[in-house]
Amino acid sequence: MASHAIEVKNLYKIFGPRGREFVDRVKVGMTKGELNERHGHVLGLQNINISMPAGGVMVVMGLSGSGKSTLIRHINRLIDPTAGEVLYDGVDVCKMNENDLREFRRHKTAMVFQKFALLPHRTIIENTIYGLEIQGIPDSESRKRAQGWIERVGLKGFENHYPNQLSGGMQQRVGLARALTNDADILLMDEAYSALDPLIRVDMQTVLLDLQKELKKTVVFITHDLDEALRLGDKIAILRDGKVIQQGTGQEIVLKPADEYITAFVKEVNRGRVINVETIMKPLSGNPEGIPVVLGTVLEVAARMMTVANQTSAHVVTVDGKPVGSIDLATIISAMVTPISHEPSLQAAE
Ligand SMILES: Nc1ncnc2c1ncn2[C@@H]1O[C@H](COP(=O)(O)OP(=O)(O)O)[C@@H](O)[C@H]1O
Ligand SMILES: [Mg+2]
Repeated sequence: MASHAIEVKNLYKIFGPRGREFVDRVKVGMTKGELNERHGHVLGLQNINISMPAGGVMVVMGLSGSGKSTLIRHINRLIDPTAGEVLYDGVDVCKMNENDLREFRRHKTAMVFQKFALLPHRTIIENTIYGLEIQGIPDSESRKRAQGWIERVGLKGFENHYPNQLSGGMQQRVGLARALTNDADILLMDEAYSALDPLIRVDMQTVLLDLQKELKKTVVFITHDLDEALRLGDKIAILRDGKVIQQGTGQEIVLKPADEYITAFVKEVNRGRVINVETIMKPLSGNPEGIPVVLGTVLEVAARMMTVANQTSAHVVTVDGKPVGSIDLATIISAMVTPISHEPSLQAAE
């Protein structure tokens, strides 16, 4: 199944009985605080425009209360917008009739929750087939499908256990297996990993990345953790007070944080894992020196390759092996520790 992009356009959500009346005032500058104090309405989202990559991971990041859950819940319309559109494959989810919406939710979307939402009296496999059961798919077929996903998420042998016999990380694997068993194109993950211990969390990120290489679902992943966002996100949007304050690739955000708030976020980041060799390479002059490093390689990996090869310079090549630039260890190391403020190739991309 080919994945489709999700386009969020001019989306507003104002919680309260007369939300619609306030959209225009928010458009001309009424703040969340004013709306709340003067009119008792809550500004959930304002003018959200995000194009989520088809078959990629879209990360939505922000502090608690910034509107992340409100946004993700618009995608399967657990929340109706006050204004705006959510397009999937060109169709506005917000305008679907009841039937189409039910079909869309069942067949196109699956949610993975932070609290796992497993049914305690059902075994792992019974939990995993729950969605298929609701769709009326015969038990034998459901179980066959579920079994494959249970194995893929590393839970072979636990099919007949109950949720309380599993650790948090394993329960989250069940949540993922259940979502995958539904065979939905869109995976909606609202802080799915936030309750896990750091090491388990990184394991679960790896599980998702490995699956994603092959499945290429359209994943919307919410987190308030920047490391997680950078590791998983093909694209990242950062929300504050219901507004997108920056969106782009992890590298774009780390290299050019849009404001103080994001600068504070990215300060602690391991830049070597985010910035890639393209950003710092120089044009080739003369013959390529040292080992070849493929475009897109992050600095940390390039530095390791060069160190292992005992070389201080390298040349950057395309996937077809064509040399396109040169790098040296000193520049790599300094880029890993010093913020780059004026990067020509990024400016050109703007
Ligand atoms: N049903 C609701 N009624 C009123 N306000 C709400 C409702 N749901 C969320 N909000 C408010 O909308 C804002 C965004 O909330 P939320 O999307 O849950 O943030 P996040 O998921 O980023 O923590 C918050 O100010 C929250 O209090
Ligand atoms: Mg939330």
